[in-house]
Amino acid sequence: MSKHQPIYVTQPELPPLDEFMPYLQQIWDNRQLTNGGPFHQQLEAALCRHLGVEYISLFTNGTLALLTALQALRITGEVITTPYSFVATSHSLLWNGITPVFVDVDPVNLNLDPARIESAITPRTTAIMPVHCYGQPCDTRAIQAIADNYNLKVIYDAAHAFGVEQDGQSVLNCGDLSVLSFHATKVFNTFEGGAIISPDARTKQRIDRLKNFGFVDETTVVAAGINGKMSEINAAFGLLQLKGIDAAMEGRRAVARRYTEAFAGLAGITCVRPADGGASNHSYFPILVGPDYPESRDALYARLKEHGIAGRRYFYPLISSFPMYRGLQSAAEGNLPVASRAAEQVLCLPIYPALADSDQQRIIDLVTGA
Ligand SMILES: Cc1ncc(COP(=O)(O)O)c(C=O)c1O
Repeated sequence: MSKHQPIYVTQPELPPLDEFMPYLQQIWDNRQLTNGGPFHQQLEAALCRHLGVEYISLFTNGTLALLTALQALRITGEVITTPYSFVATSHSLLWNGITPVFVDVDPVNLNLDPARIESAITPRTTAIMPVHCYGQPCDTRAIQAIADNYNLKVIYDAAHAFGVEQDGQSVLNCGDLSVLSFHATKVFNTFEGGAIISPDARTKQRIDRLKNFGFVDETTVVAAGINGKMSEINAAFGLLQLKGIDAAMEGRRAVARRYTEAFAGLAGITCVRPADGGASNHSYFPILVGPDYPESRDALYARLKEHGIAGRRYFYPLISSFPMYRGLQSAAEGNLPVASRAAEQVLCLPIYPALADSDQQRIIDLVTGA
């Protein structure tokens, strides 16, 4: 057993509690607890400015946002997606009665491989749902070219991609819609929360109605909507969190830089990096433990755990191997060799702004065998 406090893969950002009290006081004073109250409106405006997007709709969580995004664009039939993600990506398809079609990932950034999308398109395909895995951008240009060619929609699961830019532009403006998660483990958290980025006011309006049961006004319901509204407490907390986001991002960058330098040239260890020109928000620090490393990924994972360091094997097992997916033709391991290998080799190391230098050094020493 380690004499140190356990270190988890992440530690949620929390501002000092007393800074949140004035926000709570305001909610108590005006008694508007949800349904698009003042903090909800302020957070939408603040996030648009911060992220460089025009239209955003806040949600209770990212999963409800994914479900609603598919409804908003009336997606049916088959959707091409990645097996290398958190289960919510594919679950959102199944919950909408859509068949996921798994396509393999790029060996470098582990995002959906555009070169393999075309051969998975059938007459039933209506959309592509890629994931900016680990907050590292997909090849959005190549994906858009295919979507344009085949008249497909693109919904990005951007749960990891808060604040990620590509060529100076928010990656959240790519595709038809992008969906964020503000879960406790994410770079920007509202305890639970999520959002959809829309390209125009009309789409935002449809999404805002869908997340409020389909209500247009007191007596008019135009769609079978759901309850996906973010509460005033979560929205107020988000506003406070935004004040610290730049420092938090810088903190993550510093941790990532140190790991990257420490592992440069280390036999058998590959840091998963964004493709050329792509940035990362360092929401995760994934390494691949290859055959040249002295022990297996699982042995390293276990050794770290013995020292109180809880890395996570994101994303193992692959979504396509879970019982509700493995019967699909596209879920066959032979169709997904790159994702299958990555799932066996990946280990996400702890990364968060408050990770102490000495703790990071211990992790580095354990990985490098120093
Ligand atoms: C890739 C991905 N998609 C969707 C989700 C679901 O988001 P939420 O937990 O906010 O529902 C998560 C994480 O939680 C995720 O990592």
